[in-house]
Amino acid sequence: MNWRPLDRVVSIKLKLSVVIIGAIAIAAIVSTVGYLLNVPVLVRPVISATIGVAGMWLFAGGITSPLREMARAAGQMAGGDYDVRVTESSADEVGDLARAFNGMAAELAEVDQQRRDLVAMVSHELRTPITAIQANLENLIDGVSEPEPELLNRMLSQTERLGRLVAQLLDLSRLESGAIALERLPVDVGALVGLVVDEARLRHPDLLLETRVVPSDLQFEADAERLHQVLANLVDNAARYSPVDSSVTLDVAECDGQVTFRVADEGPGIPTDQLERVFDRYHRLAAARSRGDGEGTGLGLTIARWITELHGGSIRAEGVEPTGCRMVLVLPTEGRQ
Ligand SMILES: Nc1ncnc2c1ncn2[C@@H]1O[C@H](COP(=O)(O)OP(=O)(O)OP(=O)(O)O)[C@@H](O)[C@H]1O
Ligand SMILES: [Mg+2]
Repeated sequence: MNWRPLDRVVSIKLKLSVVIIGAIAIAAIVSTVGYLLNVPVLVRPVISATIGVAGMWLFAGGITSPLREMARAAGQMAGGDYDVRVTESSADEVGDLARAFNGMAAELAEVDQQRRDLVAMVSHELRTPITAIQANLENLIDGVSEPEPELLNRMLSQTERLGRLVAQLLDLSRLESGAIALERLPVDVGALVGLVVDEARLRHPDLLLETRVVPSDLQFEADAERLHQVLANLVDNAARYSPVDSSVTLDVAECDGQVTFRVADEGPGIPTDQLERVFDRYHRLAAARSRGDGEGTGLGLTIARWITELHGGSIRAEGVEPTGCRMVLVLPTEGRQ
């Protein structure tokens, strides 16, 4: 039975007081009625005790049943069922415990889901290039194909992809466990942007990329290596997810103790309801998933956000009119220590 008449009472002490007062009242009423009806003296306490205990069971059930429910739920969770939840209707301390319990269960369910996603994603992402490399090597050993530059380059890019994925996963786990400490040193923003652009041009030879840094000699304290990683990912995304002949701009400006980096492209952009979600790990838009070039794991922006937040800054995605996407990265010039 799930009747909880005392759910609205805000503390256990008060609930127990209500139950005790109820029991005393019942005893008094039964004694008085028994006296008026001439019920024998020895029978009256038996009747009042029976009615009192029955009332106690009825009212106090709602006090202990949430605890039993939680013990049962904890057992189920230990067995791997994280979907189980307990009733939170009680307004007292047990209700607080039930709410905390449900919060913990939801968090555990999310962590469990992330672990499953990770295993599924890693095994899928690793299997594809490994299978391809293996097939190519077998063909080479069997003499079916010749070690021509094109084949070797393909195999090289597959191993590079494996290396990138492993590095990203390592980064993510180190960032999440807080094992990465930033090395803040004065960064020459113009030089850093130049480096990012040169590398992006190597990866995307047709890229039309314009840059602007104001003031041109801008310097601020940051972890150059990590900032480079974030900018490279943003430029890489802009190049990858927009048409070949469209242009990408990277501009940097300093204002009011903040350095703002904007990477804009003229591609299809990101739908409004996905602007936040693209920062979730492994989240890729359908268009990116269907590209079928095997590139991309959906970790780049997650890592970018972690690094940005470690710097005490923020990163967001915006839409651009008439079409395109703009990633805005804002970092404080005075680093958080
Ligand atoms: N400039 C952009 N234009 C359109 N979509 C974008 C853009 N940048 C990111 N996205 C979308 O956001 C998703 C997540 O980006 P993210 O950089 O996190 O992962 P990824 O590029 O798919 O893989 P990687 O881990 O190699 O970076 C992309 O898959 C893509 O769908
Ligand atoms: Mg990316």
